[in-house]
Amino acid sequence: MLQEKITQYTEEINAFSTVIVDELEQFRIKFLGTKGIIKDIFDEFKSVSPEEKRTLGKVLNEFKQLAEAKYQSLKEGTEVAETSKDSGLDMTLPGEGFEIGSRHPLALVRREIVEIFNKLGFVVAEGPEIEDDWHNFSALNFPEEHPARDMQDTFFIRKGGEHGDIALRTHTSSVQVRMMEAGKPPFRAIMPGRVYRNEAISARAHCFFHQVEGLYVDESVSFADLKQTLFYFVQELYGEGTKVRFRPSYFPFTEPSAEMDISCTICKGAGCQLCKYSGWVEILGCGMVDPNVLENCGIDSKKYSGFAFGMGIERIANLKFEIKDLRLFSENDARFLKQYKSALI
Ligand code: PHE
Repeated sequence: MLQEKITQYTEEINAFSTVIVDELEQFRIKFLGTKGIIKDIFDEFKSVSPEEKRTLGKVLNEFKQLAEAKYQSLKEGTEVAETSKDSGLDMTLPGEGFEIGSRHPLALVRREIVEIFNKLGFVVAEGPEIEDDWHNFSALNFPEEHPARDMQDTFFIRKGGEHGDIALRTHTSSVQVRMMEAGKPPFRAIMPGRVYRNEAISARAHCFFHQVEGLYVDESVSFADLKQTLFYFVQELYGEGTKVRFRPSYFPFTEPSAEMDISCTICKGAGCQLCKYSGWVEILGCGMVDPNVLENCGIDSKKYSGFAFGMGIERIANLKFEIKDLRLFSENDARFLKQYKSALI
């Protein structure tokens, strides 16, 4: 009889759990109070038979200890609750907000560029960031003594090797070489990716940045195709009416070569600080693929011709978002990154 009661109350005590101060006090009164259950049970114990006393004595003591320990541990856990109102849980407090991540502005711009060229049938090609001399320089017609191979611009990793020195690629033109070596014309692809140049970090230069280069090789591809492709790209990216102009330039891997300017996206050509009051800003380099490059990649330069272009994603993003300091792109300051959440999705 007494044993049954103890078993039942033991279950009740074990199941008991609260952070509410009043309930805990009721528990204390019910079990440990001067008129409580433990007192009752001890009273009852006095009148049981001597054999039962022997077995029950220990059970009874353990039961009492259990009730006291439970009360103590719950009380310690409720110390915080006692200082705040009622249960210590204020259900009216707002929950902790959680933030939805945003895309990096460079990722947004990269995606926009890729989408525009996709519409023209360009596919995306990728290649390694650690490159050999052949793919980064030699196949692209860089003369042996060209200053771009110099330690100044290139992060070299290892001297020598089957295809020359190993270095971090300085442009994604290396992917064009890999693509042409691996396949047969026609090629129509863009190559987005990270590139590295050994430059001191400042607001206007960084030791790494991102490029999108493009390549189109087929029979009778002309400079007119190049101009029209890039003109379409600029209208899509910066809006109808954006003007373009081509200035003669030099790259070892293209002949003829040009740099392309667009009418300033900020002042629309009227003159401002960004365009240094010229009304124009440069956005990319381009040209007709040098026949030497085609031949280096095993393509018949008598049959095929092509154009190539390359731009820095940071530059395109600067013009789109007016970001003046390049370092912001790689510092991962959430206050900066958050601003571009809904600029382009
Ligand atoms: N590879 C050049 C660079 O890194 C860009 C470019 C690509 C120029 C293709 C012309 C043609 O600056």
